[in-house]
Amino acid sequence: MKVGRGAETPAFLVMDVVTQANARQAALAPNAPKVIRMEVGQPGTGAPAGAVAAAQAALRDGLPMGYTEALGLPALRARIARHYMEWYGLALDPARVAVTVGASGAFPLAFLAAFDPGDRVAMAAPFYPPYVNILQSLGMLPVMLETGPDSRFQPTVAMLEALHPRPDGVIVASPCNPAGTMLQPAELAAIAGWCHAHGVRLISDEIYHGLQYDAPLATAATSPSAIVVNSFSKYFSMTGWRIGWMVLPEDLVRPVERLAQNMFISAPHIAQIAATAAFDCTQELEANVATYRRSRAVLLKGFPDAGFARLSPAEGAFYLYADVSDRTHDAQGFCRRMLAEVGIAAAPGVDFDRTRGNRFIRFSYCGAEADMIEAVERLKIWR
Ligand SMILES: Cc1ncc(COP(=O)(O)O)c(C=O)c1O
Repeated sequence: MKVGRGAETPAFLVMDVVTQANARQAALAPNAPKVIRMEVGQPGTGAPAGAVAAAQAALRDGLPMGYTEALGLPALRARIARHYMEWYGLALDPARVAVTVGASGAFPLAFLAAFDPGDRVAMAAPFYPPYVNILQSLGMLPVMLETGPDSRFQPTVAMLEALHPRPDGVIVASPCNPAGTMLQPAELAAIAGWCHAHGVRLISDEIYHGLQYDAPLATAATSPSAIVVNSFSKYFSMTGWRIGWMVLPEDLVRPVERLAQNMFISAPHIAQIAATAAFDCTQELEANVATYRRSRAVLLKGFPDAGFARLSPAEGAFYLYADVSDRTHDAQGFCRRMLAEVGIAAAPGVDFDRTRGNRFIRFSYCGAEADMIEAVERLKIWR
């Protein structure tokens, strides 16, 4: 029987580590030290109180939760547009905002609106695995730009210039996953300018905006041709509400609307109400960021003594990408042993880089601060 190319989509390997970590935790005696979860990039904090209260009030008031317009509730689109003025000083027309089912729901819409099967889309390796897996399932061709610490795991205009033929699209992420590194505003502007000048569609994944530690932040929404993807899953701590957004160039608003009408109809109504209120929960959200900042400092100080000295120069997100080539060339086996022997779950680099990933591990520090302190102690002994 025929199966489609989508049936060959690779697994997101970190989810396998989640399964292993769950099994390990379930097998432990009740008072044994628990498994420390550093494999997933999911804030443990839950939605901010104001967002939960808004959802509760809507349900209590009996608001019927129907479909919304495909591009989202007008109030949420307007609030997102205001956010661009508040964070970046950018006047944004709410008509260019599309509310999506997480950033994940934005990718197929963006890729289908911007590219055709056979189109080449460049991105830095290491990369967030679904970029590649979704592009391939749609018949598009990911093109890898091998990056390392010298360009802070980010692409450069010179790398794009060196590509022949020129790509049809470019994906950037700043801060990025897995390395946590950022493009300087001038670097992002240079890439956006190069893409616009050459008719190359830029997709800028800005999902980790708000989680930067003293590094300057810039958005690609200033480019007239770029697609910006963002989400309520990280800074806003609302992963399970499945809500995100795009800022679209004028020419793609109606195409994305038509695709969204057909593929999703709309993002969840209740999540859109909660998300609108989340913008007013700054105090709580900044307290989360302060926790990440402290956890990052704990790891940057303690990891070198625990045998992880070669860390990505991460200015943002909640990840450290560790080069472990002095300890193993089998990141998956290394992660399995680390889980079995010291109860720490981390993500093997093979998910993020198919050629060099076996020499890297990604540690996520969005869990409890006390867990990060404990992780350093366990790893120092394990070393
Ligand atoms: C870089 C990046 N983009 C997009 C996503 C998807 O996020 P969501 O669909 O929860 O908005 C993630 C999730 O970890 C991510 O790390």
